[in-house]
Amino acid sequence: MEIFREIKPLRAFLREKNKAGFLIGFVPTMGALHEGHLSLIEASKKLGCFTVCSIFVNPAQFNNADDLKKYPRNIEEDIKLLEEAKCDALFAPNADEIYPHPSNTHFDFGSLGTTMEGEFRPGHFSGVALVVSKLFHIIEPDHAFFGQKDWQQVTIINQLVKDLNFDIQLHPITTLREKDGLAMSSRNQRLTEDQRSKSIVFYQSLLDCKARLEAGERLDKIAPFIKNKIEQDSELRLEYLQLANRENLSSLNSVEEPNNAVLCIAGFVGDVRLIDNILL
Ligand code: PAJ
Repeated sequence: MEIFREIKPLRAFLREKNKAGFLIGFVPTMGALHEGHLSLIEASKKLGCFTVCSIFVNPAQFNNADDLKKYPRNIEEDIKLLEEAKCDALFAPNADEIYPHPSNTHFDFGSLGTTMEGEFRPGHFSGVALVVSKLFHIIEPDHAFFGQKDWQQVTIINQLVKDLNFDIQLHPITTLREKDGLAMSSRNQRLTEDQRSKSIVFYQSLLDCKARLEAGERLDKIAPFIKNKIEQDSELRLEYLQLANRENLSSLNSVEEPNNAVLCIAGFVGDVRLIDNILL
């Protein structure tokens, strides 16, 4: 696997690949890689793409300085995993390469960006869109792969691609879970053993809520019970439990038609913030 820290040689390298007729597949990440990330690499390889992964913990998308500081970083282990997954190239820049001067460009996605994650992490999606736009311009991929675990992020990137005429085909990839159902996440590494066993409550709450919604109950009746159940443990806190239209993310209170909604959850185990969702 070729490893690049700088934009210029990466661009020159990828232009050659492009000339040689390769399709470029791109998997942006913040590292601390797990099987969920690797499933995106696999999807790109399966499509026959020359596959580029990026690892960059993007300061612009963290609204909490402590979260940025504590974000897990393990580049040596990540390189091993990427090599095993037969990833073709890695772009792992430092912050000065991506932000040589303070950026003043902001993105506003209207209601897509103000609900759920946008409400609790102001500025987050503007920071995501900024770095993803930069990476798309640097790498110029034909295909890009994003996880459905971050449903709202995929929705916003889809909007970004349309709004800015990026000639890139997006591929949303199913969430990979641990055996007990916990969605794989880099942040899971920060959980103690005890917190790890408690963290499954969020996925269980999604399943519980889904069953009740499909039986005709309304979310505003179910949500307080779920919140109480979660918060019986003082280390757990529910931030939101929201039913939304899959495409425009508008808030729903009940399942109106099948295959139209996504149920999203966010909460804390100690100071570790986790998110998850399931489709209805
Ligand atoms: P990160 O959290 O590292 O995730 C990188 C990609 O992996 C995202 O598209 C995410 O949805 C996907 N992913 C994470 N967990 C997954 C799982 N359990 N199953 C399948 N896919 C999973 O998301 C980001 O980084 C950043 O916001 C980024 C897009 C790189 C911009 O900085």
